[in-house]
Amino acid sequence: MRVRLLGTAAGGGLPQWNCACDGCARARAAGVNRTQDCVAVSGDGRAWFLLNASPDLRTQLAAAPELAPGPGRRDTPLRGVLLSTAELDHTLGLLTLREASALTLYGSSCVLDALAGPFPVRPLLARYTTLHCAAVGGGEIDLDGGLRARALTVGSKRPRYAEGLPGDDWVLAYRVHDPHTGGVLVYAPCLPAWSSAFEELTADAGCVVLDGTFLHDDELRRSTGGGGTATSMGHLPIEVSEPLLPRRPATRYMYTHLNNTNPAAVAGTTPRSAAEVPADGASFEL
Ligand code: MLT
Ligand code: MN
Ligand code: ZN
Repeated sequence: MRVRLLGTAAGGGLPQWNCACDGCARARAAGVNRTQDCVAVSGDGRAWFLLNASPDLRTQLAAAPELAPGPGRRDTPLRGVLLSTAELDHTLGLLTLREASALTLYGSSCVLDALAGPFPVRPLLARYTTLHCAAVGGGEIDLDGGLRARALTVGSKRPRYAEGLPGDDWVLAYRVHDPHTGGVLVYAPCLPAWSSAFEELTADAGCVVLDGTFLHDDELRRSTGGGGTATSMGHLPIEVSEPLLPRRPATRYMYTHLNNTNPAAVAGTTPRSAAEVPADGASFEL
């Protein structure tokens, strides 16, 4: 399995266009640029799938040689998108994909419903491309190119625009498995808590791409003087998750969805250095 981290920042990116906070100022001074969280995976190097569709997708695709179009004039290796949430920072890029001739969208049923309701991406896209949508339950789905994916519900936090909508499966983690190599990737950019089900999902992972939104639980209050805790916003802070990382020598842990208040986003390292803080474009095989 080939994996490319297209973007590693939380909503707004780093630096955020309208933000003069210390983190954004440090990023500007250091020339650090992180685009919004998005991952590309492929089993055969020819058919690629996105994990989420970031608002920065056009730039991210242009920077990824693996995802270049061809050989036909409108051929693309991009087959579809697996959504972990319906949040705008994970779905706005879907509109960028309207030029595709066909696209398959995977997500929980409440996420897919939100994208037909208050944020009507699906009916919009269906006017431009042949759109297939598939709800992911607990079972494995087969992806073109040989990968298999399974979703685990890890949270129930709705996007702000979807308040009041029914359903519990608003936040998913994905386990992507390559049956040919045995490689396993777990992708969990929004993880409210490290449950036993999540422990089981990651048991045989070669790499876990993990929620690194905040370093500290009270980071927003520290940096802005207000705002809720990381945990109350559905993001397990690094200071809590990093000590929990099981010491499995074969597993790499990488933090993504880094918020502009997170000092690790500019430093590129965590306090314990038990996990990696990769830059945009990091690529590896599993
Ligand atoms: C989140 O990750 O919690 C959301 O993307 C926050 C938001 O943009 O409203
Ligand atoms: Mn987000
Ligand atoms: Zn900022």
